Amino acid sequence: MRLKGKSALITGSARGIGRAFAEAYAREGATVAIADINLEAAEASAKAIGSAAYAVQLDVTDQSSIEAAVKAVEARAGGLDILINNAALFDLAPIVEISRASYDRLFSVNVAGTLFMLQAAARSMIARGKGGRIINMASQAGRRGEPLVAVYCATKAAVISLTQSAGLDLIKHRINVNAIAPGVVDGEHWDHVDALFAKYENRPKGEKKRLVGESVPYGRMGRAEDLTGMAVFLASDEAEYIVAQTYNVDGGQWMS
Ligand SMILES: NC(=O)c1ccc[n+]([C@@H]2O[C@H](COP(=O)([O-])OP(=O)(O)OC[C@H]3O[C@@H](n4cnc5c(N)ncnc54)[C@H](O)[C@@H]3O)[C@@H](O)[C@H]2O)c1
Repeated sequence: MRLKGKSALITGSARGIGRAFAEAYAREGATVAIADINLEAAEASAKAIGSAAYAVQLDVTDQSSIEAAVKAVEARAGGLDILINNAALFDLAPIVEISRASYDRLFSVNVAGTLFMLQAAARSMIARGKGGRIINMASQAGRRGEPLVAVYCATKAAVISLTQSAGLDLIKHRINVNAIAPGVVDGEHWDHVDALFAKYENRPKGEKKRLVGESVPYGRMGRAEDLTGMAVFLASDEAEYIVAQTYNVDGGQWMS
């Protein structure tokens, strides 16, 4: 029960890694807002997790939706202790085919969504005066570029940079901002990634997934559950002195 009595909001937690975080936080004693653009899926996930979880409608690209979600958490749980900025979109295209629409969509969700969600959470935490924890979901894609993944990689590099700046700015309020950089994590997200690679690299479906899994030093793709230990630790009292860091949780793929 390392998060007993804490109130958490996890963006994009109706499914995938965010949902695994919500389950782990509930097990550790936190109350968790399952905040997602897909309200129906958020409600189903909250119901499956139990009374510690509740669904909140959230579009991280919409400022009024961000503010309403934070207010909903304040009203329901008396304040916000932990934010995980987890919602993100992925796309893939060679440089000469990247569309402005895809660029705008990814930067709007992955970068602006992270910044303005973080800002709204920080304002709420500062007003309450009890500090807080903010965890941003980066990626190994933010550590270096990839031929077909330019825009997503750039958004995740921006998340690492925002984590550093926000971490340094907010620690005076005892708000610790850190990030987690996963490698390749199996789930619906990677089904979509695999389908895009199949199209652009002319591969049979499933092949890219198999290859990336084999390339992980640990010997397989990650699972959402592989990331929950770090997400709980960074939100716990034990992580009090950790500021502005990005942790690789990727089976040994990246070293920094
Ligand atoms: N899966 C991987 O291999 C992997 C690897 C590295 C990093 N990550 C990062 O981990 C995080 C979670 O990844 P995942 O695989 O669980 O993704 P996912 O696609 O399975 O889930 C993303 C969730 O975000 C929600 N969402 C999308 N747009 C939104 C918006 N505008 N407002 C609110 N919610 C929105 C979706 O409805 C969905 O529930 C992301 O930040 C992703 O970039 C994933």
